[in-house]
Amino acid sequence: MDKPLPSELARRISFRQLQVFETIARVENFTRAAEELFLTQPTVSTQIKKLEESVGSALFEQIGKKVYLTSVGQELFHYSREILDSVAHFEMQAANLRGLKKGHLRLAVVTTAKYYAPMILGRFCQQYPGIDISLKVTNRENLLDRLGKFLDDLYIIGEPPENSETHFIPLIENQLVVIAPRNHEISRQKAPVKLSEIVKHEFIMREKGSGTRQAIEKHMATHKLEMKIRMEIGSNEAIKHAVASGLGIAILSDHTMALTSDGGPLVKIDVEGFPISWPWYIGHTNKKRLSVVAKAFLDFIYADKKEHSPSIYPFEMY
Ligand code: PGA
Repeated sequence: MDKPLPSELARRISFRQLQVFETIARVENFTRAAEELFLTQPTVSTQIKKLEESVGSALFEQIGKKVYLTSVGQELFHYSREILDSVAHFEMQAANLRGLKKGHLRLAVVTTAKYYAPMILGRFCQQYPGIDISLKVTNRENLLDRLGKFLDDLYIIGEPPENSETHFIPLIENQLVVIAPRNHEISRQKAPVKLSEIVKHEFIMREKGSGTRQAIEKHMATHKLEMKIRMEIGSNEAIKHAVASGLGIAILSDHTMALTSDGGPLVKIDVEGFPISWPWYIGHTNKKRLSVVAKAFLDFIYADKKEHSPSIYPFEMY
């Protein structure tokens, strides 16, 4: 077997330095990085100073309270994530060979899936108590950004990107429904209410960059209808409160209504052409190796779906 490429740097830098560097670059702040690593701030600064001396360039520049990566820093960020991920993958693989499922799963989901994800993760953790989870909940635009930066192992999203760099498979159905206050005049109209009637009312809409908003805009464009947007809010829960307070009506994922009581202040309106189907997919980037733990999660989801919701979706074996 050939020897690895010779590297002067490999003799001078340590894993710990790379870990400190990666944390600062990710959280963009020395103090928060020190907290995450349970280190003091002077220790963190010394490690970076040593790393910069070994690399021979500055890795960060500070503007106000925020730190930014220099161009050499950006390159090192990319490689340090690969190196640290490889060590974590090895650790999981070694545990797997010893018959243990141990390691860390990083799952990122769109905001509407925050009601579904903990449920499935709860069942997964019962089966694999040795696996730690980090769950990132964010909107579509941020999630696609994270996917592009390889920040997580797996992603749950509606209408995933279609390209050879990612691989997504259908997960479960997600339906968008019209909601209104119980005492709103459209709650008393004869069902199904016409879509052209609905758009006469003012809407509370998710922020730009939201997948829910994208699905709604697509639906309205197909019907050549314009909506009157009274307010934009970046949270499904806050939208429900705004609707309940009479500020407008909204279109949200039915999953966001999961914990909303039946006799409460909100009602779902039966509208022509609704619900809008915007199913979720689960997948990952092909540019990064899938960890043993991520594979175990996909296998688990497959088995779980067969047991709990066999008919929702045709689910190809991974
Ligand atoms: P959102 O995405 O949380 O950005 O609205 C929802 C989805 O894609 O289903």
